[in-house]
Amino acid sequence: MLLSLFGKLFSKKDIVDYSVIKTDMHSHLIPGIDDGAKDEQTALLMIEGLKALGFTQLITTPHIMKSYFDNNEQIIQNGQQNFNDKYHTNVVAAAEYFVDESFVEKIKNNMPLLTFGDNYVLIEVSMGVKDKQLEEAVFELTSRNYKPVLAHCERYPYMFEHGKLNYYEKLKDADVLLQVNIRSFLGQYGEIQKKIARKLAVNDMIDFLGTDIHNELQLPMLKDALQDEYVQHLLNSNQLKNALL
Ligand SMILES: [Fe+2]
Repeated sequence: MLLSLFGKLFSKKDIVDYSVIKTDMHSHLIPGIDDGAKDEQTALLMIEGLKALGFTQLITTPHIMKSYFDNNEQIIQNGQQNFNDKYHTNVVAAAEYFVDESFVEKIKNNMPLLTFGDNYVLIEVSMGVKDKQLEEAVFELTSRNYKPVLAHCERYPYMFEHGKLNYYEKLKDADVLLQVNIRSFLGQYGEIQKKIARKLAVNDMIDFLGTDIHNELQLPMLKDALQDEYVQHLLNSNQLKNALL
């Protein structure tokens, strides 16, 4: 029903590319520091590909996840600076913070965080189990005027309680912004993730779209996603905050 409604609203001739939202705010472009670009040539291919799809500003968000990606703000900033200097690119650096004890400690100790735009901090949590630390992290962040953005919020099936969006509504009430991965609309991560992404889209609950690109092989799917009516609905909705970054 909704699909056919979107179908009627957006015929092929109305299709826009990502230039309407200008900025990708979730990507893994800095070579060799996380599970993203494996080398500089790959990073350059990814950057070229994203620009060809219409993005004019690229904010890259390497993982900071203790024991897996032992990055810190300095490593990320140095990596960004070296890459930009060498290739005359203008990639902007932030981070994707995994919410765990060490992250909460970092906030409580008032260590400076890598933010983007209007003091946004991109955070991710465990895919498998609900973690009380999310609430604590959100509280600590918002009380310091940071604006938490939950990365790929559709990738946490346990948040889709009884097939409803109540948990997401609670997050928004707690001033958490919601980011969805574009490739989820094509089922890249599974059917449930696709369903959650679609439901959040029709309820106008999505604040940011991101590519979360990790390698150049993901570029064709980002191009294909432009044919998806939910993606087109979002790009045309004027509601995404990407355009304001
Ligand atoms: Fe990511």
